[in-house]
Amino acid sequence: MISKKLLDALNYQINREIYSAYFYLGMAAYAASLGFKGFASWFTIQFKEELVHAEKIFNYIGQKNERAVLAAIETPPQDFKSPGDLFERTLEHEKKVTAMIRGLVGLAKSENDKETETFLQWFVKEQVEEEATPASILEKLKPAEQDKQNILKTDSELAKRTWKG
Ligand code: FEO
Repeated sequence: MISKKLLDALNYQINREIYSAYFYLGMAAYAASLGFKGFASWFTIQFKEELVHAEKIFNYIGQKNERAVLAAIETPPQDFKSPGDLFERTLEHEKKVTAMIRGLVGLAKSENDKETETFLQWFVKEQVEEEATPASILEKLKPAEQDKQNILKTDSELAKRTWKG
C-alpha cells in the first residue's frame, strides 16, 4: 500500500516523465528540421529513455497493487534558438526533475514508506547522469557556438549514442 499523498505524487511524476519525453521529441524535431541528424538522434533516444522512466513508476505502482491515474500532457516548447539552446534547456529541465525526485524521496521518508524510498534510489542515481550529460555536451558547444564546424563535429559525435532499451 502507498499513502494517497505519495501515490498522487508518483502519478504526477509519471506525467512529468512523459512530458520530458515530449519535450525531447520536440527538440528532436527541431534538430532534424535544421539537418542536425546527430542531435535529432540523441534527442530521440532521450525521448525513449523518458518513456522508460515513466513506465518504471507506472509498473511500481501496479506492483504495489495500486492504480496509476494518467493526466493530460502539457504542450512542450516549440521554439529554440540554436543547438546550444537545446542543451541549455535540457540541463535546466533536468535540474527541475532532480528537484522533483528529491521531493518524492522526502515525501516517501515522511510517509515512512521504505520500499518507495528504496525504489526511488534508481532515479536519484539516474539524475546524476541526466544532468552531467547535457552539461558536458554544452561544454563542447559553448566555446564556439558560432563556429559551424564545431557544431557539426558535436552533431556527428552525438550520432554515436545508441539506444540500450
Ligand atoms: Fe526522467 Fe530526464 O529525467
